Amino acid sequence: MTVFLTAVDPGDRDVVGDVYDLRLAGHAADVPHLPRPCPADLEGSLTVAPPATEVEEWAAYSAGGRCVASVRLEFPLEENSDAVTASVLLVHPAFRRQGVGKRITEFSRDRAARRRRSRVLLVADAGPGDPAATPGHRFAARLRARALVRYEHLRLHVDDAPRPTPPPESLRLRFWGSTVPEELVTQAARLEATLSADAPAGQASWEPQPNAVSRIRDFERMRIARGRRAYQCGVVDVRTGRMAAWTALSMTRANPDNALQAVTVVDPAYRGQGLGLLVKAHNLAACRAAEPRLTVVDTWNASDNTHMIRINTGFGFTRAGTRGMWELSARRSPARTGSDLPRPLTSGLS
Ligand SMILES: CC(C)(COP(=O)(O)OP(=O)(O)OC[C@H]1O[C@@H](n2cnc3c(N)ncnc32)[C@H](O)[C@@H]1OP(=O)(O)O)[C@@H](O)C(=O)NCCC(=O)NCCS
Repeated sequence: MTVFLTAVDPGDRDVVGDVYDLRLAGHAADVPHLPRPCPADLEGSLTVAPPATEVEEWAAYSAGGRCVASVRLEFPLEENSDAVTASVLLVHPAFRRQGVGKRITEFSRDRAARRRRSRVLLVADAGPGDPAATPGHRFAARLRARALVRYEHLRLHVDDAPRPTPPPESLRLRFWGSTVPEELVTQAARLEATLSADAPAGQASWEPQPNAVSRIRDFERMRIARGRRAYQCGVVDVRTGRMAAWTALSMTRANPDNALQAVTVVDPAYRGQGLGLLVKAHNLAACRAAEPRLTVVDTWNASDNTHMIRINTGFGFTRAGTRGMWELSARRSPARTGSDLPRPLTSGLS
């Protein structure tokens, strides 16, 4: 099947609508257990990239003008600059098994090579059944992609969560929404850097995020641009002013029943005191008070992060699926006659 790749212009309502419809169809076919795609989230993701990342968003059309595939390539600009993540590599369920998946993968490898990336990371979510039986896993196996890491998808039914208990006297709880208070942001950056340096992530060879306030602020800008709202809680040691623990829940506009359990981090000096559970329980209670329709919370932990999985299952989370990640080498850059810039709008693939 011949397909034409078009760089998605965020101002082009038709193309953005096509991509959204395609994401919805993929959601229904592959991952109906996950929260459904949110239009505001998609639109925001086209205009504001994650921190220190450049995004290429592509849509593939058939010769008959049907949108048949969606590709999102995320190029880290600072650490991990040898890689690109294909965070979306999706073929419309009605157009599968006609070679489109292979073609958009080759396209992604070309894009990676043009930007001097040596590896392309592929991601696929699966529900509670055997992940090896899903199209994403079969496709990755067919490509002989190298399995890097598997994440456990854990889900909490909010009524199963423990009730919050009061913190020890020396610690005080602080709550905020989508923006970390100015006086805590340096500490949030420090804690987040600790987290990304510590968390096991299989064979992914992923360099940790640097300690930078700008990362926190850029992430907040992205979250807000995507129409998401966050509920956050920090535990502050009143004796020193040091933030000992921090957690965040994030919600999209389209899914008032679902929250993503985002960062939870405990300062290494305060570990072993149950502060992770304490801060999560308080934050969830605050979120539930503001979001009466909230029913479930989702989180993902690398399968080898047994410590975090044990903490989460202790909190009431149960296994709901998996996320696989694989690596392909980027193809050698093809000989070019013109500039290195992406070709405008369309490039035909057949
Ligand atoms: C995975 C996905 C992109 C494949 O798209 P596709 O257009 O069907 O892929 P292709 O037609 O190029 O398939 C190439 C080969 O992969 C294998 N394959 C793909 N889907 C398969 C399936 N459902 N069962 C078994 N093998 C499959 C086959 O070997 C196939 O060759 P064949 O059709 O000649 O037997 C598509 O199913 C999809 O969008 N899945 C959900 C999103 C996802 O998981 N993306 C991440 C992939 S790592």
